[in-house]
Amino acid sequence: MSQTMKAAITAVGGYVPETKLTNFDLEKMVDTNDEWIKSRTGIEERRILREPGKASSDMAVKAIEEILRTKNLDPLEIDCIICATVTPDMVFPATANIIGDKIGAKNAFGFDLGAACSGFLFALNTGAAFIETGKYKKIIVVGVDKMSSIIDYTDRATCIIFGDGAGAVLLEPNFEGMGLQDAILKSDGSGSDFLHIKAGGSLKPASIETVLAKEHYAFQDGQPVFKFAVKGMADVSAELLERNNLTGDDIAWLVPHQANLRIIDATANRMGLPKEKVMINIQKFGNTTAATIPLCLWEWQTKLNKGDNLILAAFGGGFTWGAAWIKWAI
Ligand code: UT7
Repeated sequence: MSQTMKAAITAVGGYVPETKLTNFDLEKMVDTNDEWIKSRTGIEERRILREPGKASSDMAVKAIEEILRTKNLDPLEIDCIICATVTPDMVFPATANIIGDKIGAKNAFGFDLGAACSGFLFALNTGAAFIETGKYKKIIVVGVDKMSSIIDYTDRATCIIFGDGAGAVLLEPNFEGMGLQDAILKSDGSGSDFLHIKAGGSLKPASIETVLAKEHYAFQDGQPVFKFAVKGMADVSAELLERNNLTGDDIAWLVPHQANLRIIDATANRMGLPKEKVMINIQKFGNTTAATIPLCLWEWQTKLNKGDNLILAAFGGGFTWGAAWIKWAI
């Protein structure tokens, strides 16, 4: 039977910087302790991009270069680069363009997509929609964040959570029924009060005052975000299963955004999934914002089989959240 065309992930790449920032390091910087961080978040250490002059684009390039190598792909064949990030190299131009220049993707157009921790999920859906038009054959979707560039390392409410990293996928047309099957994406701008950067945008441009008031760092009111995240990620994942007549038994892996182990556990429970079917690397990398989901795919790719049903789920600043069902194509 001939299948309609779908957009499938055909390669994955990832990169995390070498420098580790452990809970014990943080104990020396703010009033916190390893036990509190581990029990409240599941995080033990995160990676930090320390080299001067290195930015999000450099991590993204490393992740994409892995795809170019494994697929023996000529960068000139890439049609489009979509970069999900909240830590672009500069306010403009788009980091996607800088990445394109660095990898030699001279025929690609590119743009950034800002949906915070749901950025990769939103970008994946956008890239898939481009593929489904039939006009584009090779799209790179990269989720990257250098969170250390916007974190106040005297603020224990945020510095214990975030880390740096990049994950990328190649999207190509698939005619065997593999790839993106369905997705639900949601936004609620009223959540912006709880997770944001106050200054540096058009609302409050940078000034001496904004710098002194530390308003260029990420602000998070953790508890309300936690409550929305638990409900949002679990609800949307359950809805996606239900409307596709799937149960936990049909799912090979849940690929959740890595914000907090307790949010991941709540989502898995709601979907009826045992822990063995949940990708978790938050203990090693913390919350890398747009990079968490592709970094999971990168780490687990050797365990995945063609046809496996994966549910990708995220919740983040905005608020933004959503879930996607993909059939693994590799
Ligand atoms: O990825 C984007 C979306 N973000 C999220 O999904 C994050 C959602 N939020 C969270 O993951 C959690 O809210 C946090 C991990 C940020 C905080 O955990 P919590 O269980 O919500 O802690 P809390 O803010 O309710 O604080 C509980 C207690 C407080 O002390 P008292 O008032 O009970 O005496 C805090 O002052 O823990 C204290 N506390 C800390 N203690 C040690 C807060 N932060 C720390 C800390 N170390 N780093």
